[in-house]
Amino acid sequence: MSQPAWTHGVRIAGTGSCLPSRTLTNADFEKLVDTTDEWIFQRTGIRQRQVCNPETEGCFTLSRDALSRALEMAGMKGSDLDLVIVATVSGEMPCPSTACRVAAAIGATPAPAFDLQAACSGFVYAVNVAEALIRSGRFRSVGVVGCDIMSSIVDYTDRTVSILFGDAAGSVVLVRDDNPARGCLYQAMGADGSGWNALYLPKRMQEVPPDDVNNPIRLGYLRMNGKEVFRFAVTKFREVIEDALRNTGLTPETVSQVVCHQSNIRIIDAAREKIGIPAEKVYVNIDRCGNSSSGSVGLCFDELNRAGKIKSGDAVVLVAFGGGLTWASSVWRI
Ligand code: COA
Repeated sequence: MSQPAWTHGVRIAGTGSCLPSRTLTNADFEKLVDTTDEWIFQRTGIRQRQVCNPETEGCFTLSRDALSRALEMAGMKGSDLDLVIVATVSGEMPCPSTACRVAAAIGATPAPAFDLQAACSGFVYAVNVAEALIRSGRFRSVGVVGCDIMSSIVDYTDRTVSILFGDAAGSVVLVRDDNPARGCLYQAMGADGSGWNALYLPKRMQEVPPDDVNNPIRLGYLRMNGKEVFRFAVTKFREVIEDALRNTGLTPETVSQVVCHQSNIRIIDAAREKIGIPAEKVYVNIDRCGNSSSGSVGLCFDELNRAGKIKSGDAVVLVAFGGGLTWASSVWRI
């Protein structure tokens, strides 16, 4: 892909994340539904996930705390940001956006703030949008958060969906940098709405597709065709990573880290093995955190960064896919 001659680059000035206080183990699920630790771990790689105490925690508090930690690492204040984006499908309220409340809470007012919705691809979509806005020269520093409170939208009587998900927020602060070689080398985003009914959250029976109407439905909770999503994910995940490597000239040897959405360890391993990327270059925390939708990539990135595994000059690929159906990659020279 031919790139314009950039006059400046983009730097990740800080990262942050926030996990809620409660731990929900597979043993806890054995008491809620007809399942076993062995079934869940073998099919998904998940042992436990963190979930909110709904009295005190939620999308607003996790997003606020993740971004505050990213700002602290960057040595910046909320008032240094000139845009706040929160990727989520599970904000407490559709209006105002979670981003507006977060921006006010961290002192970023009157910076513009909006939520972006792309399900599990949300964080990577938001990073791509923010990076492009800084490259364009219109913005200098953007706070990006990915957060989902899946515990508020999964039906804990549905064993086929509930066991997969947890809550989390991950954040990056992106700033304009004098070095034009720094920043996003390549980004790809896509959507195929014809596959919407593989993963959807119906509020009215009118929206429930004919092949699902005879199943027990609880309006307001996530519905998933696990096999359909699995098929899509295994193929798309590999394609998106291969596309990112091809378009940047990177190889499994030269890429430093692939930070991917934590959907299912079998999906991650299948793609990784097919492409030939060594296991130590693909971070996994699904065993501890489950699938936190928009939260997962930012959470993984922050955990890697705080462990000293993201260094200046590294080539890092962010990749995600999810409801929509949507997918996204973002290749960074750190
Ligand atoms: N515990 C025990 N048994 C369960 C179960 C659970 N939690 N959930 C489903 N089962 C049962 C099913 O009822 C089925 O029983 P049957 O054979 O008697 O009908 C059996 O286990 C096999 O179910 P199946 O759906 O074929 O399992 P699977 O191997 O496809 O695994 C998922 C199910 C959900 C783990 C898998 O499809 C998956 O990970 N899909 C992708 C989901 C995803 O990534 N979503 C987020 C995208 S961002």
